Amino acid sequence: MKIEDARDIDTPVASAVSSYNEWDPLEEVIVGTIGGVTIPPLTREMKVMVRRDYWDFYRKHAGEPYPEELVKGAARALDNLQKVLEDEGVAVTRPDPVDYAATRFRTPHFESTGFFNADVRDVLLVVGDEIIEAPMALPPRYFEHFKYRSLLQRYFERGGRWTAAPKCTMGQWMYDQDYPEEHLAYFRGDPDIPDDVGPLVGQYMTKEVEPCFDAADFVRFGRDIIVQRSQVTNELGIRWLERHLGAEYRIHRARFRSSGPVHIDTTWVPLGEGRVLTCPARPCLSPEIMDMFQRAGWEIHEAPEGVAPAEFQLSSRWLSMNLLVIGDERVVVDKHEEPTIKMLKSLGIKPVLVDFKDHYVFGGGLHCATLDVRRRGGLKSYFD
Ligand code: ARG
Repeated sequence: MKIEDARDIDTPVASAVSSYNEWDPLEEVIVGTIGGVTIPPLTREMKVMVRRDYWDFYRKHAGEPYPEELVKGAARALDNLQKVLEDEGVAVTRPDPVDYAATRFRTPHFESTGFFNADVRDVLLVVGDEIIEAPMALPPRYFEHFKYRSLLQRYFERGGRWTAAPKCTMGQWMYDQDYPEEHLAYFRGDPDIPDDVGPLVGQYMTKEVEPCFDAADFVRFGRDIIVQRSQVTNELGIRWLERHLGAEYRIHRARFRSSGPVHIDTTWVPLGEGRVLTCPARPCLSPEIMDMFQRAGWEIHEAPEGVAPAEFQLSSRWLSMNLLVIGDERVVVDKHEEPTIKMLKSLGIKPVLVDFKDHYVFGGGLHCATLDVRRRGGLKSYFD
């Protein structure tokens, strides 16, 4: 985090922060930085994030930097994204890299080292002119919001509202110590998961002890916001946001057939007004959500499976559907994702190509690694 000297503060004329949905024309965006990313300790609750094939590696290398080649590749991918967005006329801001992720930290309730990946979307939620810091749910991510402090302060000075949701303790009492470890082993997004796997029978790693959520479990459709109860977002966290946003917004809880839901943006992804992508490996299990979209005349399209030749340590290959919509029928997509590119074209959408696959190893696609700070357009209802 960069602490700056005191300076003159301008009086803003209009808020620099304004974004109500995932598709209005994008004017300003934060693109994450990867510098300082560190292998998190593999505590039992972190196993909801790390794919089983990598458990030994994480166990051995906790607190160490990731291999340099991987970090360099991801940094290049993020720079590629910045350039592509700038070429499309979008203003891009970047946070500072961190140099303290490997520092051991301690709160009254736990000890850990950091993680600090580039996924801004997990940490911050923009609703209108407000930026909300999510409480997060996993110890290595406890201090991740500090990476955005100087940026957030700038947006605050430029008229944005700035809120932090109550932090949770992340003490061991928050996590289900009886969560069956074999349930964590399923490849996330596998359609052949057994019917009794944790989330399908209402069992999650995070318990209803204190509110917790990651921002990326919410997806914004103007006045309507869809959220999933996930391994990192609990019902108390959802209620906190619901009450905080008040009567102007309606929060809808959606369930999907997923063995390990973590972040909704590879599951239910709007492509623009009237069109949403669904993940065929994680169909929606909530009839009222399907109804809501169908009644309002929304098209629901199945996303094709990802094909990018990439390594996945922290996610499934459905990062292919983790798209960044920049408005006016333009969508940023990884250049290796041929089936997705084809699908976008068939819908009359212009794919804006970027070489991003080397970022996938850190668990995030184009939507995860960005945060739209300003989109043209106001608060609307798309479902009445
Ligand atoms: N858990 C999802 C998957 O494995 C990836 C979600 C990534 N999203 C994010 N905001 N980091 O497919």
